[in-house]
Amino acid sequence: MSFPANRPRRMRTSPAMRRLTAETTLAPAQLILPAFVREGLTHPNPIQSMPGVVQHTPDTLKRAAAEAVELGLGGIMLFGIPAERDATGTAGTDPDGVLNRAIRDVRAEVGDELIVMSDVCLDEFTDHGHCGVLDDAGRVDNDATLEIYAEMAVCQAEAGAHVLGPSGMMDGQVAVVRQALDDARHQDTAILAYAAKYASAFYGPFREAVDSQLRGDRRTYQMDAANRREAVYEVELDLAEGADMVMVKPAMSYLDILSDVAEMSPVPVSAYQISGEYAMIEAAAANGWIDRRAAITESVLGIRRAGADTVLTYWAAELAGWLKEGK
Ligand code: PBG
Repeated sequence: MSFPANRPRRMRTSPAMRRLTAETTLAPAQLILPAFVREGLTHPNPIQSMPGVVQHTPDTLKRAAAEAVELGLGGIMLFGIPAERDATGTAGTDPDGVLNRAIRDVRAEVGDELIVMSDVCLDEFTDHGHCGVLDDAGRVDNDATLEIYAEMAVCQAEAGAHVLGPSGMMDGQVAVVRQALDDARHQDTAILAYAAKYASAFYGPFREAVDSQLRGDRRTYQMDAANRREAVYEVELDLAEGADMVMVKPAMSYLDILSDVAEMSPVPVSAYQISGEYAMIEAAAANGWIDRRAAITESVLGIRRAGADTVLTYWAAELAGWLKEGK
């Protein structure tokens, strides 16, 4: 009888052996927690389609940020939900607007112990829910939107954000944000470019999270799910415009894109495990159909394995807690 010459199973014989030979690691510093703060709330407001995630009050947001420091997370990404919306999203460029105030509060709480990131986009602030302003024909006006992004970026940098995340998929947004930051002497404020952001059905729960006013879709600015090569093009453009880090979003249905980007990017690569990815796993787990903790861990590990240096995930704090307790 001839025996197999090669036995990969040897490397799987015990937890210690598997730990020794693991090709991919998970660590709290690689995780970024997205967090929502809503103007005028007195108690945190649960988001139905994202069990376990809330719209924060300023106070509970500060506590979440302090916890993130305790856990050793890499960063927190802030989204604001204003009380009043209008056609041009003026709450986004108000230094006292909900997001800018939250940045200031969180920064005062965490100092430089945690990287504070903020969303540079208009969709939370406009009454039509689009990521930019509209022209007379009702189309999203790229270049008019860029001017507002520039103003938002400076407000957010002034409020103390370490990293800005332009997420609206307007052409030229990274260049405009970089230029505005430099002109305002915020040359050390970094840009995490939402470089390859796809129009995705999996953003559904986020729209509840930010009370989105959107009717229709974002297909004229976010990328088409059919396209792969185009992601590399988008990343190249953002790099040329001055991106310090680049992102692929969503994550789980776009691991090929993530792999391509990780292959060619000279700067750190992020992936955003979005609201619908969160909701799917939570829903299946709530039904007893999958093992929640194992599924969460596997999903984030898969995103790391595909090439993400850092992962934005709503499970960041919980996952970091598990990593800390050492399984
Ligand atoms: C746009 C933005 C969106 C998300 C993050 N930034 C929504 C969208 O493009 O519709 C989605 C995040 C998620 O689904 O978890 N500001």
